[in-house]
Order: sequence, then structure tokens, then C-alpha cells
Amino acid sequence: MAFLYLQKSKASQTTGMKDEHQKNIPRHIAIIMDGNGRWAMKKGAMRIFGHKHAIKAVKDAIEGADSLGIEFLTLFSFSTENWSRPKEEVDALMELLVKTISDEVPLLMKKNIQLESIGDIDSLPPTAYKTLMDVKERTASNTGLKVILALSYSGQWELTHATKQIAQKVSEGKLKVEDITEKVMSEHLQTAAYPDPELMIRTSGEYRLSNFLLWQLAYTEMYFTPVLWPDFRREHLFAAISDYQSRERRFGKTGEQVKS
Ligand code: IPE
Ligand code: IPE
Ligand code: MG
Repeated sequence: MAFLYLQKSKASQTTGMKDEHQKNIPRHIAIIMDGNGRWAMKKGAMRIFGHKHAIKAVKDAIEGADSLGIEFLTLFSFSTENWSRPKEEVDALMELLVKTISDEVPLLMKKNIQLESIGDIDSLPPTAYKTLMDVKERTASNTGLKVILALSYSGQWELTHATKQIAQKVSEGKLKVEDITEKVMSEHLQTAAYPDPELMIRTSGEYRLSNFLLWQLAYTEMYFTPVLWPDFRREHLFAAISDYQSRERRFGKTGEQVKS
């Protein structure tokens, strides 16, 4: 925690840290919330028990991010590949999504948090889709932290989707092939409105991306922790940020160039 530089007076109020340490907080953090099933199994319980206990971790991470003045928090909540899990687990996860986002509207409003989503949300069951759209709409004018749920999301799906949209524009004569740049690509991604994450955290001791934000993580700092997601709390988030703050981001340049 010694290196944790906190931003904005809000942060110092929450943590008691001095204002001169309030810098270099990431604007955008992305989290692969993994390990719910193993957490439950260690307790001799069903996997869904782990998913239920994951909600407390989600709330704590959101409140921790909010207390630091972080602007964007993207949470990998359900991947395209997760549709292949047993039907009972998928159904339980969808029910949990509906219950959680509707129960948490008062907290989102109180904290001025906006709920957004990325992914193929048309593929969600109708109740989940409706509830998500409703909560997104109700929090749309909140101006604080944006919590972005990645739902039915995968990086390869997103890139394919973006490519189709770009190809369509080219075929309609609205875009020239030579005008397709990295910027154009970014603008056609689900994350067009957000900066790329500076920090990506994955819990549960797995060292892979599992098809998460393949384009956006190009220069993101990665932080892996063995903590299983249901045990994750804001202290773990702060530890990840502290680790991030000790790193040197070079973006292809030399260390000397970056320092000068
Ligand atoms: C993450 O926990 C939640 C989702 C992918 C929906 P898991 O359910 O993947 O838990 P493990 O990896 O099996 O322990
Ligand atoms: C990644 O976790 C997806 C989410 C956290 C929603 P998985 O548990 O699905 O990833 P793999 O299958 O272990 O790679
Ligand atoms: Mg997993």
C-alpha cells in the first residue's frame, strides 16, 4: 500500500492519504472475475453458490473503484464461450444478473454510477435483456464511475462484428479501404466511447485472457492474483493499483526516452 498514489480529494477522505500521493490512478480498470466455481467447490458447495458470493466482491470492487475516482470499470461477467456451460448454470447466472442489477439501482443512484454494457446483449434471455436496458436507462444521466458489464462478450466476436460493419460501409461507398486506420477500428468496437484500460486484473491464478478485450489490452498492464473472485475485496484492488504504479510503461520506447 505504500506506493498507492490516490487521486482526488474523494480518495483522501476515504483512505486518509495525503493529496500529494493522489496521482497516477488508472482511468480504466478491466477485471476478469474468475474462480467462483472453485471457491464453491472448496467449500463442498455447488458452483452457483460461488456465483452468489461473487456479488459481494463485485460491490466491493465497485465501491473501491468509486472511492479512488476511477472513471471506468469493465467487469467480464459472462463470455461468449460461457454459453457452453451446463444449462442450469447459465440459467442461474442470468437470474443472478437480473436480481443483482435490479437490487443495486438505489446504490448506483446514490453513488452517481452509470451502468453500461459491451457484448452481444441481443443474445441474452428476454428478462435479462429488458432489465439490463432498464437499469442502463435509469442510470444514463449519472456522471460518476461507469461500470461496464461485458455480457455475452468475446474479443473475437467484437472484432468480427466491427469488421462486418466496416466492410458494409466500404461496400456502400461510405468508407474507403485506404481510410481504414487503427482509429477507425477502435471506433467500431463496443468500447468506442471508452479509453483503453491501463490495468487488467485476473483473479484465481489463471494466466490467460480468455478472449477478453483482445484489441484494447494491447498496451495494458496485467496483474494476476491467486485470490478467487468471491474473496476479492477493495484491498485487493488497491494492491493491484499499487503494483501498477510501480511499473514503467514504455509503449515501445526506451526506458530513457520515457523518463526524460
Ligand atoms: C467466473 O468464475 C464466473 C464466470 C465465468 C461466469 P468461474 O465460474 O469460471 O469459476 P471457476 O473458474 O470454474 O473456478
Ligand atoms: C472468463 O472466465 C470469463 C469470465 C470471467 C466471465 P472463464 O472461467 O470462462 O475462462 P476459462 O474458460 O477458464 O479460460
Ligand atoms: Mg473460470
